[in-house]
Amino acid sequence: MDQRSGRRKTKNYAMPSFPSMATANGRNIGQMADAIDRVSCAIVGAGQAGARAAIAMRNAGFETSIGLFGDEDLLPYERPQLSKEFLLADATEPALIKKRQEWRDLDIAVSLSIAVRRVEADTRQLVLANGKTIGFDQVLIATGTKPRRLAALETTDIPVHYLRTAADSLALRRSLRKDARIAIVGGGVIGLEVAAAAAQRGAMVTVVEAASSLLARALPCPIAELVEARHRAAGVAFVYGTTVTGTQQGAVCLSNGNTLAADAVVVGIGVEPEVEAVCGLGIADADGIRVDPQGRTALPFAFAAGDVAVQYSPWHGRWMRIETWANANAQAEVAARVIAGGEASHNQAPWFWSDQHDLNLQVVGDALGSETVLRGDPEPHKAVMVALREGRVVGGVTLNAPREMAGLRRLVRSRPHLAPEVLADPTTDLRKLVA
Ligand code: APR
Repeated sequence: MDQRSGRRKTKNYAMPSFPSMATANGRNIGQMADAIDRVSCAIVGAGQAGARAAIAMRNAGFETSIGLFGDEDLLPYERPQLSKEFLLADATEPALIKKRQEWRDLDIAVSLSIAVRRVEADTRQLVLANGKTIGFDQVLIATGTKPRRLAALETTDIPVHYLRTAADSLALRRSLRKDARIAIVGGGVIGLEVAAAAAQRGAMVTVVEAASSLLARALPCPIAELVEARHRAAGVAFVYGTTVTGTQQGAVCLSNGNTLAADAVVVGIGVEPEVEAVCGLGIADADGIRVDPQGRTALPFAFAAGDVAVQYSPWHGRWMRIETWANANAQAEVAARVIAGGEASHNQAPWFWSDQHDLNLQVVGDALGSETVLRGDPEPHKAVMVALREGRVVGGVTLNAPREMAGLRRLVRSRPHLAPEVLADPTTDLRKLVA
């Protein structure tokens, strides 16, 4: 049987028994790394993509050893909730992707609380932060991204929050008190979801956005305006064309010369790929790691999936990172099947959702395109827009219209040529336009 793929190979790896864990959430499970020297497939990064890939590998019949290495001290958990319901809840831990016993049942060695410092190509080994080395045959890089830092706020007397991990979300939650003055830098997905949660907790929120509209990277203006109106109705204030230059006596200094008194600042100005550990492999640059539709990198034994991966999007017509939960899952599944010796190809149109107040926003493909078409007349809290480029449907966005999104997703997948008038007519059933 194929040595590299590990498919249908008799189990030749004695998985060490898990050390006892002090708490139900899996703390101390990080000691797993002490018990192993070599795995057939090493997964670097125990987030959505890493965890999903490990599970999918087992489902695809990969029978040899899998090691999942993460630096957080929690078992892999669902991240989307961190900027949404987790900020409003009392729970101290987010929902886990699998419980401790389920990881055991899958025979996946989950190593937590310790970072992988280096992935070496010549020796095919991981070097952990404590100096321990772990050999591998194949490696999947799923290190994700980290929040972009705002240099102007590196030294300040006001608490500054970035949001990526469960620990970040818990710390932020403590700042979102009734009547607390919260300045949010960045009117993107993170900034707006936090704004909604903060307003719901009774805080006084101002969003400072460098561009002239919200969510400008993903949303056409008419939809962004509806989103803004809903936030304003909940008491959120907005300052556009402005950034933060520093702080002064409990206030945030703005580039327009004004100051904003704040008890806490939240920064959501985008993310950067986490590639430090893989620099030596020669497959990463400042944008991330380029992969083909199978998740392969330029090295035959190395794959990448999730937020760190740079892939070609025919919907956008360019190479890009697709930083969404859905992409992490889909790409990880494909890479896992290929690692297990099967055939698969990642061809899902990018899709994400965002919940803000009572709005459910969903975006598929490239919702900006070169031309956008509104379907019917938008209502204050409900709208559907379709995006075209060179006559092809390349994306769309729905506000409180999930059923329309189901049709749009099917349509966008095949990028058909369609007349704008047909799409604009709200009586046209989008599902019937799919061949
Ligand atoms: N001052 C003010 N606004 C800024 C600044 C700045 N210095 N720099 C960037 N911005 C604005 C951008 O114009 C944009 O509107 O911050 C916003 C960042 O939005 P996103 O790119 O959506 O990033 P973020 O909200 O941080 O989300 C990070 O998490 O949920 C995922 O998919 C999501 O990739 C996204 C990631």
